[in-house]
Amino acid sequence: MTSTMTTTPTTPTSASSSSPEPGGGPGLVFPPGFVWGAATAAYQIEGGVDEGGRTPSIWDTFCRVPGAVAAGDTGDVACDHYHRWQQDVDLMASLGLGAYRFSTAWSRICPEPGVVNRQGLDFYSRLVDALLERGITPWLTLYHWDLPQALEDRGGWASRDVVDHFVEYATVVHDALGDRVTRWTTLNEPWCSAFLGYAGGQHAPGRQEPQAAVSAAHHLLLAHGHATRALRAAGTGAEVGLTVNLSVYDPADPGSDADQALVDRHDALLNRVFLDPVIHGRYPQTALDAWAAVGVAPPVRDGDMDVIATPLDMIGVNYYTSSLVSAETSPEPPTPPPGRTTAQPMVGVGQVRTVPRDVPRTAMGWEVQPDDFARLLRRVHADWTGPAGVPLYVTENGAAFDDAVGADGSVDDPERVAYLRGHLRAVHQAVTGGVDLHGYFVWSLLDNFEWAYGYAKRFGIVHVDFDTQRRTPKTSARVYSRVASTSILDVDGTVTQ
Ligand code: FCB
Repeated sequence: MTSTMTTTPTTPTSASSSSPEPGGGPGLVFPPGFVWGAATAAYQIEGGVDEGGRTPSIWDTFCRVPGAVAAGDTGDVACDHYHRWQQDVDLMASLGLGAYRFSTAWSRICPEPGVVNRQGLDFYSRLVDALLERGITPWLTLYHWDLPQALEDRGGWASRDVVDHFVEYATVVHDALGDRVTRWTTLNEPWCSAFLGYAGGQHAPGRQEPQAAVSAAHHLLLAHGHATRALRAAGTGAEVGLTVNLSVYDPADPGSDADQALVDRHDALLNRVFLDPVIHGRYPQTALDAWAAVGVAPPVRDGDMDVIATPLDMIGVNYYTSSLVSAETSPEPPTPPPGRTTAQPMVGVGQVRTVPRDVPRTAMGWEVQPDDFARLLRRVHADWTGPAGVPLYVTENGAAFDDAVGADGSVDDPERVAYLRGHLRAVHQAVTGGVDLHGYFVWSLLDNFEWAYGYAKRFGIVHVDFDTQRRTPKTSARVYSRVASTSILDVDGTVTQ
């Protein structure tokens, strides 16, 4: 996908490493048409929670649970994008972004089951028009964790009825925007929706019921499959995908059977649990066994797995960090540090036991492991998307750091610049190594509401002053903008401004 905002370098026919920059150092050249974008999500940026006919989502409710979100923060105002969207689109254009990945808020569009709110659709319709006018490809995610509270009150993702409601909502959005939006993602990170939401309780709706979590995972997959079919059936040529959060686990002691078994279980319960059903039409046996051991199972009915394995046009990978695990270490406390009791989200894994490595960490405490990113992309291509012929996109990657605003108002974020450079280099390695990967979206365009961490963790390449709503591009925004508009990553770090 090429946009008018993305200029590609001279005429490379594939990714290469050369000295393409006039007057610059050597550069890693990405293939023509490689998509460069930034990502956000509705509840994290919009605010305007009781405007335009929107009803509460599970996150509005969860933010009111004492201790659930750091400092009692809420998404009530967030980045006020609901009112400042034009300015934000201008900002994206000024950064030379080729694509913008955003999500629509279900309860803005279908405030109650069976009710369609034109005002909600109009908001996104105007946003899409503004993006297209500036040559930015809209990349729409239908569900980024903000289930209408009205549906949670009927059982939420743990209840099979939610599937029909999701398909209805997806169809309504597609009927309104499908003439202009060509890239559709059904769900963002169903692992978080199911397991942080219904087993660990770190995320909305905050339930800690292992069977509900596994049921939620199945219903999310089923909703994804049925919605994919519905969007296809509409005949607009929509390209439909799913975005999953993946990680890399390694054993602290490769010779230890216990460590290997722990790695296998983590991998099954995070990575394979969604990719195997979607690509191969079955749950990983290790996950089924781990669940059975704690007395739970996905509520699979005849025909479900065929629907779930409906062929896709793309898979999105979100990657942030990786871990070394050991059966010997003490269990990690559940994260984030709770002001209320939460549980281990990985149903059937027992306790998470990680061993810290001597590498830089982000403000989330996550290890910076770009080499594992390249490994992961190669593996996804080899084990799932390559054989299925499904193109890959990196739909999220980025880092939180404790950014300081300088006396002159500028925000220099060298650690984020280093993180992005390292991970972009990994993306380039994957592409040159034959991974069928077509684009990269940085998380995030703006500092925003980081779920249970509230506003304390800043992932933006653009700083947001939450008192004044002033947006200030950080150094990382300038670096990323340069990469996005040239499709070249300079390797010697000369491009830092
Ligand atoms: C991902 C989420 C995104 C953001 C980043 C940091 O898991 O999809 O909304 O919170 O993590």
